[in-house]
Amino acid sequence: MHFANGVLFIGNVAVPAIAERYGTPVYVYDTAILRAQIERVKRAFASLPFRPFYAMKANASLALMDIIRKSGFGCDAVSPGEIYIARQAGFTADQIWFTCSNVSDEDLRQIGDPSIIINVNSLSEIDRILALELSNPIALRINTDVGAGHHVDVVTAGGGVKFGIDLAEVRDARMIVEDSGRKVVGLHAHIGSGVDDPAPLIESARRLLDLSTDFSNLRWLNFGGGLSVPYRPQDEEFPIEEYGAELTRIADRMLRARELTAILEPGRYVVAACGVLLARVTAKRISGGLWWAGCDTGFNHLVRPSKYGAYHHIVNASRGSEASLRATFDASKMREEVIVAGNLCESGDVFTRDASGNAIARKLDPTRVGDLLAFCDAGAYGFSMASHYNARLLPPEVLIDGDSMQLVRERQSIEDLLKGQR
Ligand code: LLP
Repeated sequence: MHFANGVLFIGNVAVPAIAERYGTPVYVYDTAILRAQIERVKRAFASLPFRPFYAMKANASLALMDIIRKSGFGCDAVSPGEIYIARQAGFTADQIWFTCSNVSDEDLRQIGDPSIIINVNSLSEIDRILALELSNPIALRINTDVGAGHHVDVVTAGGGVKFGIDLAEVRDARMIVEDSGRKVVGLHAHIGSGVDDPAPLIESARRLLDLSTDFSNLRWLNFGGGLSVPYRPQDEEFPIEEYGAELTRIADRMLRARELTAILEPGRYVVAACGVLLARVTAKRISGGLWWAGCDTGFNHLVRPSKYGAYHHIVNASRGSEASLRATFDASKMREEVIVAGNLCESGDVFTRDASGNAIARKLDPTRVGDLLAFCDAGAYGFSMASHYNARLLPPEVLIDGDSMQLVRERQSIEDLLKGQR
């Protein structure tokens, strides 16, 4: 993204032209950024026997999934719905892991294809897979007791989380599978999301490698996702090369000796940076001595600030500056400090928050009603967590490729709100 004459460009397309054609709010994805992230993942682990997977919960839009699949990724799916979308996006069954979390018998039956790997979360799930006589390959999700993440709600290993088979139960899990004449083909650990330091990821990988010596029929070691991206202009990039080099150092020899393939399944790292949510300023007001800018989207479209107190950088895309992208405003230039709020009937519908979740003002280039705001790094857990709250419609999605823009998901119509109701 860059500015020219005060206007934000995504790829080579001026943002106001996107808003004019498709309206606001709208999710916009830049394929060049998506491809660059894909290449970073592939490059960092290229020395290993390695297969990248994509955690589609981050963004299950077919247009992005198509690019990701064609780049050689497999797919991590967590529900029958995600499996369905993955198949529609062209992933073959053997390229899909179904990672369970308290799944029902109905969920398990809906998997459909016996080549999809079922990554079980508990001994109870193994029992039910066997009882249902599903012949799918079985992998075990392990709680390696190392957890990390940007918020307590996204830490997925360690004490007090709902995920994974405890280290103390792994032996029992293996016996249950093997006693039934089946094999454990993979071990998996995902420690959390938005992890900005490779150290806990490496420690978890080390534990998974140690554990793997007890399993003689493994084909895969899946080290999960979790790699963070810089949301604030001053944040550092996740050191993916360092992570790749260290994982190679500790795992390569063992993987090759045992003919195992390493899997990583990042979601956020692949798609966060390529996505922008565009909205229009609909109101300016002063309240409590502070300036507020209201806009035509809300936490129904981008829930991360409300749900996790997460930071998304915001720039004025109609009358902004290159400096605003880096938040390095020239002190001599005009700028304003505003709280940016959405259009939902709920006080928590505020995009600019401090670490404790309180509304705080953000420096922006001066905004007027009618200006466009770009919410940056919204490609991951943006659209995929969107809802109809307040009977607001889901926004459309647009793919930018250099000079071209293409509508890849239509804006919903008002009738969609009643679909299925009697
Ligand atoms: N694998 C498994 C089994 C997962 O549960 C997840 C994310 C991933 C991979 C991908 O994690 P990533 O590479 O994207 O960090 N809604 C939250 C994030 C929830 C992540 C849940 N699991 C957010 O907006 O921050």
